[in-house]
Amino acid sequence: MRRHAEERRRSLESPVEFWTEAAALIDWDVFPSTVLDTSKAPLYSWFPDGRLNTCFNALDRHVAAGHGERIAIIHDSPVTGSVSTLTYAALLNRVAHFAGALREQGVGVGDRVLIYMPMVPEAAIAMLACARLGAVHSVVFGGFAAPELAARIDDASPKVLVTASGGIEPTHLVHYRPMVTEAISLAAHKPDACIVLHRPQFESELGPKDIDWATAEAAATPAEAVPVKATDPLYILYTSGTTGKPKGVVRDNGGHAVSLAWSLAHVYGVRPGDVWWSASDVGWVVGHSYIVYAPLICGVTTVMYEGKPVGTPDAGAFWRVMAQHRVNAMFTAPTAIRVIRKEDPEAKLLADYDISALRTLFLAGERLDPETYHWATGHLGVPVVDNWWQTETGWPVAANPRGLEPLPIKPGSPSVIMPGYDVRIVDENAVEVPTGAEGNIVIRLPLPPGTMPTVWGDDERFVSAYLTAFPGYYATGDGGYLDEDGYIFVMGRTDDVINVAGHRLTTGAMEAVVARHPVVAECAVIGVRDSIKGQIPRAFVVVKTGVQADPMLLRDEVVQLVRDEIGPVAALKSVVVVPALPKTRSGKILRRSMRAIAEGRDEPVPSTIEDPRVLETLKPLLQGD
Ligand code: COA
Ligand code: AMP
Repeated sequence: MRRHAEERRRSLESPVEFWTEAAALIDWDVFPSTVLDTSKAPLYSWFPDGRLNTCFNALDRHVAAGHGERIAIIHDSPVTGSVSTLTYAALLNRVAHFAGALREQGVGVGDRVLIYMPMVPEAAIAMLACARLGAVHSVVFGGFAAPELAARIDDASPKVLVTASGGIEPTHLVHYRPMVTEAISLAAHKPDACIVLHRPQFESELGPKDIDWATAEAAATPAEAVPVKATDPLYILYTSGTTGKPKGVVRDNGGHAVSLAWSLAHVYGVRPGDVWWSASDVGWVVGHSYIVYAPLICGVTTVMYEGKPVGTPDAGAFWRVMAQHRVNAMFTAPTAIRVIRKEDPEAKLLADYDISALRTLFLAGERLDPETYHWATGHLGVPVVDNWWQTETGWPVAANPRGLEPLPIKPGSPSVIMPGYDVRIVDENAVEVPTGAEGNIVIRLPLPPGTMPTVWGDDERFVSAYLTAFPGYYATGDGGYLDEDGYIFVMGRTDDVINVAGHRLTTGAMEAVVARHPVVAECAVIGVRDSIKGQIPRAFVVVKTGVQADPMLLRDEVVQLVRDEIGPVAALKSVVVVPALPKTRSGKILRRSMRAIAEGRDEPVPSTIEDPRVLETLKPLLQGD
């Protein structure tokens, strides 16, 4: 563990030296002379006097270096039956034109652009075009419904909204246009313009004020990259908050580019010219960091996959993509592997494909259970590498640094802490616990470059949500422990965030919606174990006194309500009517005890419980499948 330990020590003891070196991985208009500004602690900023353009780093510099003919994006879309490619030169051309189109709508440095797009190259083009102009994009995942989109429109107040006719799920078309219209009518803020990419699978749905993407791109004068301050925001990505209002995680330009260039090479061991496939969605942080920005900043070919791991056409879909594009390294969520394993337990379909180009499979987004780890390792014959991080950090906090120094893998652990992060395990009083003991996973401030500098427009919320519970530390919201070798074991969330098929959701937000149903007196939504999705939400509902509710009908109505208010991604399908919820004598619902049972944790039930039998009867329903 010499190289990793040495680099990590250097990053913590001499951060200026370490990050100045890493900063040389990217091209600057003004190389930063100051590495870290601590004057507004606990808010920190990296490379405060540096200037750069992220899009320039992702595209122009590779073309200028003679790599214009290298493939930048492979779009593989089994749901439309198509595969297409864009070279770096072609992508630059399209991005510059689309940036010109945005500029014609008045978009400039600091203006926000909301992007609600499926997994098509145009999603990346829109993101990069914003970066080119110094504008701030906010991508919203296609599985969210109109009210969630409206909440993001109001918070980010975008000048322009960029969308497509719709997304294509294996079983159905998702029409975006009606959803966008509803979201704009719900929102107090109204974007000036809406640019719509027409997809041939959909009827043309342009409204009278909409701008057709193809026409706008063709007519535009290409825009040059605008250098911005390293600390200027590149994007806002909303993530579930404990309250109904999602938190706008801000990402800056400089720290982001540096951390991604460093991590793709050192953590993922990916080199220029490699083919890299991250099977996530541009709506999530994995999509931002490792479908779009990191591979392009590093001159790598990135695969954008529009489809599911199974059923498009079968459970060999992933192996087909790996073989066809000679993928060198892949990143997905454990749930995707579990779903393949369920369909093809012996991985028989693998025999049809030559995946010999594959060096490593990276898994993240949720806990990698040892069974899935062993199955994937056994069948693929390459290292299967867990890595742990969050929307807020933007790049791995813990991983097995394949490019720096491959370390032994311990199933159940995402391995060791990455340079730049000073992770500690503390109790509720912020006191460190002994090695091996479980506690709250926190990170000593300052966080390294590329991590969130604040919540969009709300420094106070950043401080109260992340920096207050454990003074001097950033609270990750995860619990776990470090073993004697410095390997971390992440055991689960300490708050109401649940992880459904690698998607981060909050039960609190779902409860708020369920409680709005007219016959619901009170409810609790708990993440219960699911053998494929890891967790699924289950709503426990008590109906109002004197109301005779048909449980099946109520379930359908509650499910529909959550789909309409949050979106299908919430994946709430299980609603059980119960006579009572477990409570304390003062009437507080014992959600924590319910969660502990659901997660299989042995936690004492509070002595203030009103009637222990109520909790006892819910046990089988809390234990999942
Ligand atoms: N746009 C619109 N709807 C979407 C959507 C999108 N981008 N993504 C998901 N949905 C819908 C689905 O169609 C489904 O709707 P339904 O209830 O009407 O069937 C619902 O949201 C739930 O989707 P999901 O949780 O993805 O379940 P699934 O059964 O369709 O697929 C997996 C399950 C495991 C195959 C899929 O979630 C997957 O591939 N996940 C792993 C990769 C990943 O994206 N990880 C993210 C972080 S790395
Ligand atoms: P997101 O912000 O959507 O990336 O979700 C981040 C959360 O997912 C983390 O706080 C963890 O709870 C969970 N998570 C992500 N990766 C892992 C992992 N490798 N092991 C365990 N939990 C993970």
